[in-house]
Amino acid sequence: MEKQLYINGEWKNGVEYVDLFAPHSGEKLAQIPQATKEDVESAISAAKNAQQSMGELTAYQRGTILEQLVNLLIENRDKLAEIVALEASKPLKVAYGEIDRTIATYKIASEEAKRIYGETLPLDAVPGGEGRVTYTVREPIGVIGAITPFNFPFNLVAHKVGPAIASGNTIVLKPASQTPLSALALAELIDQTDLPKGAFNIVTGKGSIVGDALVNHPDVKAITFTGSPEVGIALKNKAGLKRVTLELGSNSALIIDQGVQLTDELINRCVWGSFVYNGQVCISLQRIYVHESLMDEFLLKVKDATEQLKIGSPLDSNTDISALISKKDVERIEQWVRQSIKDGAKLVTGGKKIDERIFAPTVLANVKNSCEVVCHEVFGPVVTVNSFEKLEEAFEEVNNSRYGLQAGIFTDNIRHALLATKKLHVGGVLINDVPTFRVDLMPYGGVKESGYGREGIKYAIQEMTELKMISIKM
Ligand code: SIN
Repeated sequence: MEKQLYINGEWKNGVEYVDLFAPHSGEKLAQIPQATKEDVESAISAAKNAQQSMGELTAYQRGTILEQLVNLLIENRDKLAEIVALEASKPLKVAYGEIDRTIATYKIASEEAKRIYGETLPLDAVPGGEGRVTYTVREPIGVIGAITPFNFPFNLVAHKVGPAIASGNTIVLKPASQTPLSALALAELIDQTDLPKGAFNIVTGKGSIVGDALVNHPDVKAITFTGSPEVGIALKNKAGLKRVTLELGSNSALIIDQGVQLTDELINRCVWGSFVYNGQVCISLQRIYVHESLMDEFLLKVKDATEQLKIGSPLDSNTDISALISKKDVERIEQWVRQSIKDGAKLVTGGKKIDERIFAPTVLANVKNSCEVVCHEVFGPVVTVNSFEKLEEAFEEVNNSRYGLQAGIFTDNIRHALLATKKLHVGGVLINDVPTFRVDLMPYGGVKESGYGREGIKYAIQEMTELKMISIKM
């Protein structure tokens, strides 16, 4: 039951422990060590010392270590999916989806380890640059502090650990306090690979101690964070000259254009995009703008499909909707939904707690922009639907947000699709899909309060390496 910290390739007891409970059953799962400032110091120092052995590995060796990890993940697929289902209350079929994506993410990292290129530069393009051979290389940045959220406890860790190892960096990971077991299970697997000791460390505990110690330490050269805008922006303000990558929240939107057929496939995509993992996904579909000619049909069909979702235990392989990560979130979402209805929104379906841990998948129509369920990130099973007359208005509504991670449009009109790619102020535009779509080699990240920098292995490697210029005079 008592878990340990993983520092310098060794398991270490904590001084203090906190109980971890399953969000769905309330059952006690484990006792989690709360790292002290000194624990974080030793993890950073182990990571710093391991830089030399990491630096000596060839691209081929780094790729092979990541492949070893891929094989171990495949062997342990069932056990890992069950950990996610239990500690994150992620329905088992979605948890398996996450493990499969994690395997793909480390596989991509193993391949990208061999594709870290520089370029040659024709310096003789300016007077004074003649007679030189000039090129660039990418070097590891050093110790990386990674801070990860509860919602994808394997795959969002993979998006930081994978590119860090691929590019020869060392890591100190602080996993979300709600889902540390996944990270600790990962450490058990990494321990069986040929990764040099100290190159990967885990310090579980409070953000105010571990996160602060990472961001304030001079030997940590980069911080990569996924979580709330409030915490991310505060980290960036404290980070000084450290590299910072922030993957923050959003209230992602979708446009359904005039003339589009509301097929079962489109409706199922909208329901999946809004409610997969109870909407606790940064690119969860939260706002839908439907052409006015389709509004009534859309609401009827979405209501029907939403009401088919199965609510239950995350360990049941039929379950679609389960407990939110905390009871506090259930309360908050209930309050936001009630307020939107008071402000004139129409409740299409859901709108209430199933019990103190589960909130029913909820569709609201004609919701004012000022309502929390529109203008804040809900991070729960709620989607709003509003109609529009002219496409230009829909673009304005999508952009009328403090966030800008991904947005989608279903359209049969190529001109409208191209207009959307230009007009939507977001990090990624999906034509004929929901904004919730992601596969793990895509560049992923946002504008405005949705973030800073990009993930997706190749892009994260750029964030985690320094460009060095070499010029040889002949
Ligand atoms: C996120 O919630 O930030 C990641 C979403 C995903 O990887 O699908």
